[in-house]
Amino acid sequence: MSDPTVAPLFEPFRLGALDLPNRIVMAPLTRSRADHATLAPRQLNADYYAQRASAGLIIAEATQIMPEGQGYAWTPGVYSDEQIEGWKIVTGAVHAKGGRMALQLWHVGRISHPDLQPGGGLPVAPSAIKPEGQAFTETGFKPMVTPRALELDEIKAIVAQYGKAAANARAAGFDMVEIHAANGYLIDQFLRDKTNTRTDAYGGSIDNRVRFLIEATKAAADAVGADRVGVRLSPLSPFNDIADSNPGPLFQRAVERLSELNVAYLHVIEGETQGAREPENGFDLATLRKLFKGAYIGNNGYDPALAAQRVAGGDVDLVAFGRAYIANPDLVDRIRLGAPLAELDKATLYGGGAEGYVDYPALNAGAEAKVA
Ligand code: PHB
Repeated sequence: MSDPTVAPLFEPFRLGALDLPNRIVMAPLTRSRADHATLAPRQLNADYYAQRASAGLIIAEATQIMPEGQGYAWTPGVYSDEQIEGWKIVTGAVHAKGGRMALQLWHVGRISHPDLQPGGGLPVAPSAIKPEGQAFTETGFKPMVTPRALELDEIKAIVAQYGKAAANARAAGFDMVEIHAANGYLIDQFLRDKTNTRTDAYGGSIDNRVRFLIEATKAAADAVGADRVGVRLSPLSPFNDIADSNPGPLFQRAVERLSELNVAYLHVIEGETQGAREPENGFDLATLRKLFKGAYIGNNGYDPALAAQRVAGGDVDLVAFGRAYIANPDLVDRIRLGAPLAELDKATLYGGGAEGYVDYPALNAGAEAKVA
């Protein structure tokens, strides 16, 4: 029997070019399990995503658009032929189970390390400002370094690569792409005045700091259609040593400009990434939803009851679950039935193989009978 309190999550929804059967989205989750030599996804990754195909939409893990965009060991790419072929195995498996899938397009900027960069070079960023923190390399955690500030022609090349990566994602069978503009990575580094002190057209005023986000998003929209593009922001999150002196007007302007591009959705990490939903010094995120004419995906620390309440109230159209999706491949069924959710194992989050990845069980018939 289904749980009536979660009924709003089972209303279908039209998201850009896609028809979704429910309001439950799998959030993008870094798991560092691509092939070590090629950084291509493979059958193991296809099995993992296929187990989760009942989501209204799967947003696949953050995926670097070019070698310089990598910041963690063994994250997948979407720039080589082998990677596109690998992703075809994944999207084929998800589609065979009736699912829909977006790919999150990622450039980490300064959140990297020379060990992860082509030729051992410095990571790139809007400005040469060192982040606090450690990078996850193939040989363990290492302190991050002062990045190299991008030249203007390099910025143009990265913008073009967002378009190429979006086209590659479609060639690999993805239904949509999501521009990763959150969590202190490259686009967020351009947005915020703590990490962007440029004096050219990409720094200074809010409109200048928003420029890179808009150009990258437009490149993707031009490549695959705006109705197949979404954008993820984390306006209140300090994740990866990011901050802005006045985030309210900055993110309002960013969202206004994104709305003009007619992209399908805005995906907002509400509060602190991997932390509190309501940090101090926040601003009212509801303003952003009002400024955006496409769909709004809420994310961060939702439980099924809150998700249903926020969808029913019209505050959000869809809710993305991250941590819950790691340990609950059948999250949609569990929410429908009001069944308990399994806890994730932190030790197997990043790297490794099948353990802690494809071995979380779905509810068995006996358990289903018990909660029904
Ligand atoms: C992570 O690997 O911890 C990670 C990656 C991408 C994010 C956030 C966290 O956007």
